[in-house]
Amino acid sequence: MNRGRVVYISMDKRENIVAIVGPKGGVGKSMISANLAIALARVGKKVVAVDLDLGASNLHTIFGIRNSPDRLNDFIQNKVKNLNDIILNTNIDNVGIICGGDVPGIANIPYQKKMRLIRHLSTLNCDLVLMDLAPGSSYNVVDISIIAQKTLLVTTAEVPSLLNLYSFVRSTVFRRLTLIFKYHKCFELLALLDKAKEPDRHSRLKTMEGFFREARQTNSTVTDSAKKNLAGFRPFIVVNRVRTDKDARCGKAIQNLLKEYLSIESAMVMTIRDDDAVGYAIARLRPIMIEAPNSPFSQDIREIASRL
Ligand SMILES: Nc1ncnc2c1ncn2[C@@H]1O[C@H](COP(=O)(O)OP(=O)(O)OP(=O)(O)O)[C@@H](O)[C@H]1O
Ligand SMILES: [Mg+2]
Repeated sequence: MNRGRVVYISMDKRENIVAIVGPKGGVGKSMISANLAIALARVGKKVVAVDLDLGASNLHTIFGIRNSPDRLNDFIQNKVKNLNDIILNTNIDNVGIICGGDVPGIANIPYQKKMRLIRHLSTLNCDLVLMDLAPGSSYNVVDISIIAQKTLLVTTAEVPSLLNLYSFVRSTVFRRLTLIFKYHKCFELLALLDKAKEPDRHSRLKTMEGFFREARQTNSTVTDSAKKNLAGFRPFIVVNRVRTDKDARCGKAIQNLLKEYLSIESAMVMTIRDDDAVGYAIARLRPIMIEAPNSPFSQDIREIASRL
């Protein structure tokens, strides 16, 4: 089986999958996933939130579910045949959840199992799938994230989180291009892409614009197809735990970086306020959208839901 081909096709086809990513740990991915699922269900969507943070899952606790008999690790270990069979009710209308696993090492799933997971994610019986992804920029996280049609890039205003976010998007862009060039068996472009990974040595490839300029001289058809694919990547930058105007402006700075270096033109910026009500809701094992629907966090989540 041609690896590039499978993932490339996946990148094109998924219409209803939203990835919630944030390479820095603890920036709020799971809180946002759970509460966004509720906000979207409230406007009539049938939503399934999937805990893809294999190995350190906690999405279910935000819904107040203490433990679940059926988990994603059972599916990954082939104990469950169909992903639809492990959708669990959350007691909230139109919100289902697929709980993660807690098997050590499960996060490093082999390629074939990852592809099976990706196939099943796209056939879940619902209107929208929200994927709560693990921190980091591993191939598994990147490959699962690129099947989504919409991506929320979650960060706080802290510099390490912002830098991690930029690196994650860069990895995603390189991974997308690698898969496309492999699919077209365009080895010259793969070699050029390798050079672009070392911008200090190849300054003309420092930006995607520079890379595409050079790539077109090798193969304009494949380059244009790759550019088109990248143009379809319109992430939402979500700055979480915003306290000041300065915090909120970080999103704009990242937006500019993505544009300048990675040719991502149309990233949108959204913010979520830092809110003490979040901690209280967690302590009560109740989603904040239910516990405090008018809190700043819940208001901001509703705003994001309306713009998705
Ligand atoms: N807007 C907010 N206001 C106040 N606290 C928040 C906010 N967002 C998140 N938190 C706090 O941050 C903690 C971490 O959030 P969460 O578990 O959603 O992060 P995560 O990105 O999923 O972490 P991990 O990378 O470990 O999966 C929460 O338990 C909560 O206490
Ligand atoms: Mg999480």
